[in-house]
Formats: sequence, structure tokens, C-alpha cells
Amino acid sequence: MKFSVKNELLKRLFAAQGKPVSGQDIADEFGLSRTAIWKYIKELEEEGYEIGSLRKKGYYLIEIPDIVNQANIHEHLETKTYGQTIHYFKTCPTTQKIAHEEAQNGVEDGTLIISEEQTAGKGRLARPWTSNAGRGIWMSLIIRPNLAPQQAPQLTLVAAVAIVRAIEDITDIHPVIKWPNDILINNKKVTGILTELQADPDRIKAVILGMGINVNQDVTDFPEELQSIATSLKIEKGEEVDRAKLVAKILEYLEQYTSLYVEKGFAPIKLLWESYASITGKRVRANMVNETVEGVALGISAEGMLELQLADGSVRGIYSADIEV
Ligand code: BTN
Repeated sequence: MKFSVKNELLKRLFAAQGKPVSGQDIADEFGLSRTAIWKYIKELEEEGYEIGSLRKKGYYLIEIPDIVNQANIHEHLETKTYGQTIHYFKTCPTTQKIAHEEAQNGVEDGTLIISEEQTAGKGRLARPWTSNAGRGIWMSLIIRPNLAPQQAPQLTLVAAVAIVRAIEDITDIHPVIKWPNDILINNKKVTGILTELQADPDRIKAVILGMGINVNQDVTDFPEELQSIATSLKIEKGEEVDRAKLVAKILEYLEQYTSLYVEKGFAPIKLLWESYASITGKRVRANMVNETVEGVALGISAEGMLELQLADGSVRGIYSADIEV
């Protein structure tokens, strides 16, 4: 976390677990006036933190707002780099665009862009992505793995496995993955992943991993046309899920699995991915830009391609398609 007095103040309030923290002590430590500290407290209150104060004793934390800012995520985060720097927005058109700009500006590996709401969230194939305020996790992670550009598509599968594992840990729900990047619960989509690349011909400059996770929506929060095909963790579990905790867990698995992929190749990820795959052994239709093919899904290749067995017995590798089961 970058140093700021406000963040430091918040960290002390978190650490004190509801006990008072002396404003005077903090003022002395940072060489500031007590009024300056009081102004930071007011700013935190404006962000939604409920803070009490006791004469002569100091400030204490009463309630932490349900927001996915850096401080709340860092309360749970145990990574080396992923998410150590977080750029948080209340609203923005799409975190994907901000992440592209930040990547070009040279931000470090693992910088996270996250927003409570997106007004122009985008999905694969230029589809819109519904991103209502305060209900989901809408985030784009900028990573700079030491991989060749042709190894980037597999990162989508790495991300899918990381998100499924994190959801399992935090909620005890067991989602499945529909190739390449949809995460489903009871056949409805709970998460989408959009992987974009900034690269030279022989080198990845940055990968932007865009992740949209439906967390605390009710059915009526989805547009009518999505209500039968989309779901949220709250709908499936019957209770609200702590978004900041889930973000931290996703970042931990992402960091772990990305370095596993970089160091050991795709084989260990392939095994994990296949253990969560929903379509293996099923007859599916793969809709590609210029053609549609039908076949039985055999699994994924060593490169992460979907392998379909066609009616004539031949095996066809699919790089990119929309899959209908
Ligand atoms: C899909 O079509 O399944 C991919 C959806 C990806 C949505 C996420 S939300 C955060 C990031 N910002 C966007 O505009 N899109 C991605």
C-alpha cells in the first residue's frame, strides 16, 4: 500500500479492533496538527466508515462500509505483488480502459483497477457487461508475466481456476467452468473474464485480466433478459458475501497460479482446469466467427485449446468460440 496518512490512520483503526486510537499520538508521529487528523477522520466518514470519538481517548472504528477500496481489501490480502497497489473508483465507464492506460504509463506488475460500478462495462465479443453499483466485483488486474504473447490465452484459464478456487474457499459453493472463461453455478453465469494484451511481437508488455463477478445481486438487479441465464453468489448461497475478502482471495490464487504457469508450464493448470470443467464428455456446438461445428468435448489441449471430436471421428482444436451445450 502506498504511504498516506489517511491509509495509515485507517490501518491503526482496523488494528485497534474497535478500541480508541489517540489522535494526538498520531498527530505527533506524523508531525501534523490534531485538526489535520480530524480532517482525515471526516474524509473517512464521508467514504462510509463509521467512526466514534471519546474525549482524551481518541477515535475508534464502529462500522466498516461494504466497499472494495484498497484499505478493506488489504485487511485480508496476503500476496507479494498482486493487489499491493489498488486504484479504486466509485464509478467509471470500464476498468478495462483505465487498466490499459495505466499499463501504458508503466505501472508495476499486479496493479489492480477496481470500481464499485461501471457505466459501460464490456464483455467478450464487444457485448455489454452489466455492472451495478456496489453489488459485484468489477476489476482489471495488470500483470507483466515473463511469457511469450502466444502463451497469453492460457492466462484466461489460469484466472478461471483462481476465481473458482477463491469462490469455493469463501462461500463453500462449487462452481464449474465452461470453456474458455465462463464460471457457472447451476448452469447460470456468475463470472466472466476478459483477457486483453499489450505486446511486442516476441514479448508480453502487459496482460489486462478483466474479471466481472456477480456477488450480491438479487434476481431483480439483473436486466430481465439476463435473469434466466445469470446468477450471483448471494442468490445461490442465500446470504451476502464479503466482496473485499473475495477480491483478496482471488488475488492470492491468481498470484500463485500465474507463477505456477510461468515456472512449470501449462500442465499443472490444465489438470486443475479439467477438474472444474463442465462440458467434458458433452455434445456441444461451437459458434465461431465464420463457422459452427458440433462435436463431443474431449477436454483441452496442452495449449488450452478446446478439443472436439466430430461426427467423422476426427478431432478439431478450437481456439475461440461461443459454446452452446
Ligand atoms: C465476458 O464476456 O464473459 C467477460 C466479462 C468481463 C467483465 C469484466 S468487469 C471488469 C472488466 N471491465 C470491463 O469492462 N469488463 C471486465
